[in-house]
This record gives sequence, structure tokens and C-alpha cells, in this order.
Amino acid sequence: MNTPTSLAESVDGQRFWDDMLDQARIGALSPRGLRRLALDDNDNHARCWLVDRGRALGCETFYDAMGNVFLRREGQDPDLPPLLIGSHLDSQPSAGSYDGTLGVVAGLAVLRALHDGGIAHRRPVEVVSWTNEEGARFAPGASGSSWFAGQRQATSILEAEDDDGVRFADALADCLARLDAHGVSYRPDAFTPFAFLELHIEQGPVLESLGIPACAVQGIQGVNWYNVTLQGQANHAGTTPEHARRDAFTGAHALISALREAVAEHGDQVRFTIGKFALAPNATNTIPQQAAFSIDLRHPSAAVLAALDASFQRLAGQSWSGCTVELAASARVPPVAFDDQLVAMLDASVKAYAPDAPQLVSGAFHDAIHLAHRCPTAMLFMPCRDGISHHPDEHIERDDADIAVRALADTVGTLLAR
Ligand code: GLV
Ligand code: MN
Ligand code: MN
Ligand code: MN
Repeated sequence: MNTPTSLAESVDGQRFWDDMLDQARIGALSPRGLRRLALDDNDNHARCWLVDRGRALGCETFYDAMGNVFLRREGQDPDLPPLLIGSHLDSQPSAGSYDGTLGVVAGLAVLRALHDGGIAHRRPVEVVSWTNEEGARFAPGASGSSWFAGQRQATSILEAEDDDGVRFADALADCLARLDAHGVSYRPDAFTPFAFLELHIEQGPVLESLGIPACAVQGIQGVNWYNVTLQGQANHAGTTPEHARRDAFTGAHALISALREAVAEHGDQVRFTIGKFALAPNATNTIPQQAAFSIDLRHPSAAVLAALDASFQRLAGQSWSGCTVELAASARVPPVAFDDQLVAMLDASVKAYAPDAPQLVSGAFHDAIHLAHRCPTAMLFMPCRDGISHHPDEHIERDDADIAVRALADTVGTLLAR
């Protein structure tokens, strides 16, 4: 009988890569890239794809009240809390095929290594795909994992609407019905895993610049999301004199400059992004009545995020070109530090392949930012070309991925041998 410690050797690199290519067909864009918005048809198809893959490895399959999907490989002691591995299958609107999916398919590769290697283990092992990590269709992101970890209430998640007015609750109901029809068992409640491990692309340039195939991640910086709306007065573009205008675009422009100045006071580690901006009525010869935009604000320090939050609220309290301003936070997720022991284990597993591997702090958020509040949690990163993600040009090297998956399997093997 093989032992868990031989798990990295049992990983089938070819099958792992075939699975990566196969999932990339679900929601594929032409000429390249992927669109699998949370709870849309492609995302639900991807869930069923994962379930079929799990069944082929003898796993039981479950879904919970948020549509998170679990593949369970039973342990000799089914009452022990499972070791959980995973990430997400949903994508940004115009994405690559690695962000999220890598971590789920890597989990599948670990299950296959256990299965093919005939490896016995006391503790159950589960692979999970979390619902709506990206938050691109329904904001904020990480819905499934934040609910599972007790960080957000279901009611606040269910009431979100997409840009077409579709409610999260309705899209979720369709998804759950589809999983039910696919023969997946309903296991409504969250539980406390033994540990959670997530492999993800770095989504930044560091590993590639160092020529390092994988590294352990120490934690994730915090992130606040806001929706800002300025209300002015629509009127004729040709006849309304300057002093009589309440132009929502002009107000938004000035407010954004002031927000940027506030951000600049906190050094170059702050990340401030306005990714959405909309004017109404959006006509060339009408003064905008309304300007609405999003803010994505990130920093590794909770204190800096709190200071900027206060500055943003103060600026929103002022009048901008005579407009009223509403600034509402839709998410405030503090930074997390991962479990020291798990980080050290992942670091040791990686260093067997890459002795000079650094440890990084993640700039992107991941489901692990919430799981860290529920159980010991840590992540692995691997490089992506030019640090690009959230874009069809996202790309990874197969050799790097092979090492990253084996390093993950190695740590899983060590944890299961305990
Ligand atoms: C999610 O993928 C994020 O970090 O924005
Ligand atoms: Mn991701
Ligand atoms: Mn992403
Ligand atoms: Mn992410």
C-alpha cells in the first residue's frame, strides 16, 4: 500500500493538463479566453463537469446552500474533519482559463493521485469550487466562501442584482436545481474543515521575474469596495450657463481627483481602481444628471484602509459641482495572515523543487481570505506570463504548473500522514 507521503510522485501531470484544457472549453471566447460569469449557464456547466470528474474518481458529490460544490474522497475515519482543497470556476467577463480553475483542477489532480496510487488515509479529503469568487456579475465577490466561513450573511448575498436586474437568489435557485437534477446530494450547512489549501496563479510579475515555478503565500492584503453615486441636474448642453449647471460628470471628475490625492498620502502600496463608470442619461447634448462609479481599494494594513475609509466618507460629505454624493461600502474585507505551520509546510514542499522560492503576500483576494477565519488556511502561487490576469492573454507554463501541483500534493501527503 502506498503511503500519503508518496503523493507528489503519484500525480498524473498529463491528466491534470488535459483537465485544464478540457475545462477551458466551457465558456471559451474566440479567438481565446473565457467568460464564465458566476451562476450563468457556463458556470453551472463547469460545476457539472467537476462533479463528473469527481465521480469518475469514486468521490461522493455535494452542494450546499450557496451552490458551492464538493467532491469527497472518504477517509478511514469519516468523522474526522476533511482536508479541503480548492478555488473557483467562475471568471471575469473577459478572462483567461487559469484564474481560479487552476486551484480546483489541482485539487482534482490530488484526488486522482490518491485514487490511482491506492493511497489510504484516515482523514477525508474534499475538493471545493466556491460560488462567485470574482464578483464580476454579482458584487461583492467570494460569496460562497465568505458565507461558508461565517463572514457574510446569506440574506445580504442573496439580494445582490446583476446589471440586468437578475437577483442572485434567482440565479442561485436555477443553479441548485441543475445540481439536483445532476444527482448531486444537498448538504446545506457549512462545516469546519481540518485545513484549507488553495493553489492560484500569482496575478503579478514577481515569480516570473525570478524564474521561480511556485511559492508559499503568507497572507492577503485587505480590500474595500464602494459604490459612489452623484446626483446633479440634467439640462440642455447648449443653453445652460456654467453657473446654473449641476453637472454630475464634472462633480465626479473633481471628487475622483480629491480621492486620488487622499490615496497618494499613504504611499505606493495602496491600490485604487475605478473599474466601472456610468453616466445618465448618457447623451451627447444633455448635461449628465447622474454619475455612478465603483472603487476597489486595497492595502496590506487594516489601519491604512480604515484611514482611507474615513477620508473617503469625509470627501463624500462635501458638495461637488452642486451634486449630492452617496458613497456606500459594498465590501470591507480586512487583510489576513495565513497559518504559520501550513505556510512553512507549503514552503518546504516548494523548496524541494525551487530552493530559492520567496514567500509572497497576495495583492488579489481569494476565497482563502475568508476560509482563514474558519480553519488553518494557506496558499500556493505559481507564475503567469507578464503577470497578466483578468484578460484572455492570461497564460501559464505547463512545467511550472506541474511543479506547483506536486508541491501541493506533497503538503497534502504530509498532512494526511499525521
Ligand atoms: C478577485 O479576483 C480579485 O482579487 O479582484
Ligand atoms: Mn481567482
Ligand atoms: Mn480573479
Ligand atoms: Mn481573486
